[in-house]
Amino acid sequence: MWGGRFAEGPSAIMREINASIPFDKAMWRQDIAASKAHVAMLGAQGIVAQADAEAIAAGLDRVAAEYEADGVPENWDLEDIHMVTEDRLTQLIGPVAGRLHTARSRNDQVATDFKLWVREALAQADAALGALQVALVTRAGEHAGSIMPGFTHLQTAQPVTLGHHLMAYHEMFARDRSRFVDAHARAAQCPLGSAALAGTGFPLDREATARALGFAGPTRNSLDAVSDRDFALDFLQAAAQCALHLSRLAEEMIIWASQPFGFVRMPDALSTGSSIMPQKKNPDAAELVRGHAGRIVGCLTALMVTMKGLPLAYSKDMQDDKPPVFEAAGLLALSIAAMTGMVAEATFRTDRMRQAAELGYATATDLADWLVRQADIPFREAHHITGAVVKLAESKGVALDQLSLQELQAIDARIDERVYPALSVEASVAARCSHGGTSPAEVAKRVAEARAALGLGETGEQGA
Ligand code: ARG
Repeated sequence: MWGGRFAEGPSAIMREINASIPFDKAMWRQDIAASKAHVAMLGAQGIVAQADAEAIAAGLDRVAAEYEADGVPENWDLEDIHMVTEDRLTQLIGPVAGRLHTARSRNDQVATDFKLWVREALAQADAALGALQVALVTRAGEHAGSIMPGFTHLQTAQPVTLGHHLMAYHEMFARDRSRFVDAHARAAQCPLGSAALAGTGFPLDREATARALGFAGPTRNSLDAVSDRDFALDFLQAAAQCALHLSRLAEEMIIWASQPFGFVRMPDALSTGSSIMPQKKNPDAAELVRGHAGRIVGCLTALMVTMKGLPLAYSKDMQDDKPPVFEAAGLLALSIAAMTGMVAEATFRTDRMRQAAELGYATATDLADWLVRQADIPFREAHHITGAVVKLAESKGVALDQLSLQELQAIDARIDERVYPALSVEASVAARCSHGGTSPAEVAKRVAEARAALGLGETGEQGA
């Protein structure tokens, strides 16, 4: 009655809800590698006869070759990648295959496989972000002196350089990389040999299996080892934070590519047309990066909620750990690749940026600073005087430096003709030479440092 589409009744429901093979087959390489490390150690320790260990290792190679050629068969009755592989191994080499699972449980097996998979994903995210940083520093070097409006509240605030703006994202991705590197270092202990939850009485060499799989050493507590998924959460947390940064960069590109801004022309390869409006070129790749950030945050939320409240040690809920991690890893890799291409190939319309920087009284702070420096006026008072100047310019519909000296002196007699050079956008950015400031010389320094850290050579065109 309650089986619905499950014609075979409860057994069909159980088979479907229990099967992880549709997604955990993605870990087949890690599963084979962990089994080979385990059986080599069993042979070396005399737990399994050397000849049997060798037969099992050779059989695992054959299974791997089959998977490589034809993919992993999805047999739901066999539940997961561990059982599917062992089953095929048994078909290929006979009952000796049964010795592979000595002193091992699927609980330490899945923890090991998944940790190996996540360690690779962490390393890949770090490397991919390195490529994005290369694109950013390259473009920032070209545009260390290109002036654009800087915004706060998305209102014109002060002139900045495009190079400075791009290097801000370089900083974000540097922090992201450090999170991935950190997570990799924290995931350095191998769970294999923890068995179901309590360890095993067989004389294992856990140091050997850990090292064979590229770990620094074995985990120290078997209960923790089989129930720990912090490494997956670390990955998702770092991925979510990184996705937020990618989304912010994507959003800037979308705004900049809009007609009223016109700061950037997106590469054709990362844009699409409209089926009805022939003039349109839409920043779809950037919009999808912005959208994917939502999904990646969702993946993090999913696993956090899955893990919350699980008692020690393994519970089957934990089988649900893999889909969000696999999904987030795929979305993140694609998002980083899309933003790398966008940064590398975008055409920055520096003429439009320069024009926009002239609007909105972006150098008003420079006037206030000038009053402080040249006329020794306290900043708060200078701010007030500048406000009156901006108000006058606004009412006349002119830029600050288009007001006459009489007009300026009518507001405050201490203003003299030396103020004019300070009101240009070039003077404004050049003046912001504090460490980490937007002056072309500072930006060029930061680009040079970043290039050295990324192992890049020096480049020609830096600075204004
Ligand atoms: N497919 C399982 C998972 O991904 C493997 C571990 C199963 N262990 C168990 N005791 N049922 O979590």
